[in-house]
Amino acid sequence: MEKVEIYDTTLRDGEQSPGCSLKEHEKVQVAQQLERLNVDVIEAGFPAASPDDFKAVQHISKIIKNSTVTGLARSKKSDIDAAWEALKQTENPRVHVFIATSPVHMTYKLCMKSEEVLEMAAASVRYARRFFPQVEFSCEDATRSDYAFMSRVVRAAIKAGAAIINLPDTVGYCSPQEYAAMFHYVKKQVPDIDKVRLSCHCHNDLGMATANTLSSVDAGVRQIECTVNGVGERAGNVALEEIGVALHIRHNYYKVKTQLKLNEIAKTSRMVSQLMNSPISATKPIVGANAFAHEAGIHQDGVLKNPKTYEIISPNLVGLDSGTLVLGKHSGRHAFRKKAVEMGVHLTDKQIDQSFHEFKNLADQKKELTDHDFRTIFSKYEKTMVH
Ligand code: KIV
Ligand code: ZN
Repeated sequence: MEKVEIYDTTLRDGEQSPGCSLKEHEKVQVAQQLERLNVDVIEAGFPAASPDDFKAVQHISKIIKNSTVTGLARSKKSDIDAAWEALKQTENPRVHVFIATSPVHMTYKLCMKSEEVLEMAAASVRYARRFFPQVEFSCEDATRSDYAFMSRVVRAAIKAGAAIINLPDTVGYCSPQEYAAMFHYVKKQVPDIDKVRLSCHCHNDLGMATANTLSSVDAGVRQIECTVNGVGERAGNVALEEIGVALHIRHNYYKVKTQLKLNEIAKTSRMVSQLMNSPISATKPIVGANAFAHEAGIHQDGVLKNPKTYEIISPNLVGLDSGTLVLGKHSGRHAFRKKAVEMGVHLTDKQIDQSFHEFKNLADQKKELTDHDFRTIFSKYEKTMVH
């Protein structure tokens, strides 16, 4: 099965998320955990952005041994020089050079004509190749670019020595079909495209980052740029854990594999959430508190008989012990009886009926029942308790 590389940009694009900035030692901690997770590439920062970013990239590049370490650079000599200074000590340095190719970015942000952008893209890749064995080139805002023009830029970047071509959905604008079609178009227009690795980079403004990413894999993309917990600008980037698990459990469909150690996911997610002070929504796929929780009686009954009835992912796969049965107003007798047994209370069928009725009345009044609530209900059956 073909491999898809996982390129983690939590420390660069993720850190650009408001309120999520990290100190140097925290970045190092995250980078070490990303290495344990076995990501292929760690984008450690944007060395020209600030002295702190430079120092963090330099520090990470010295200590990470198994993942490729890279840093972002605009298509400018000074950015590429800063990236080289920060990364030259790593075993396998890569630089990520980018320039925007969409009309709105070229006109209003860069104030450049398209032919100047084309020239600058090629010149910056050529310059970066003087230092770096591996150069990745990105057409920022690729999905809103004129694809014919963008294909010319891609061709020039490959000719200048780029080994990875990344076409980002910078503003999370695309549908899955459109994103795949863009890659197919560029593949047709650029004769040397087979010599490079194609990369996707999806933002989640319309909630389609995961769908777009998977659709681009279908179109031949073999590097996925993502962040832990989907942190990133605005609505964030595609979440590493969603992609890693989706490609794992649907490998028969996608016919690709990653080298991620999926059982490190829960730990990585918790670490990033705590260090970035960025809480995870309960319903977040894979890593949310409710991702493996069941409250409805019918579901609980099914899961108790066989977890596969309502769990497509085993919690163990991502490093969690087991799913949880949440006892609330939708729960049934099976889960209630299990709770009693877990608390050391053994009840007759009649006692279950009586106490279950009491539990339902309380659950109607309270959103969450605590162990104390259960103890109060069960205390009426104290004599049957096993201590
Ligand atoms: O979203 C984006 O386009 C980026 C580029 C710098 C790759 O983050
Ligand atoms: Zn981005």
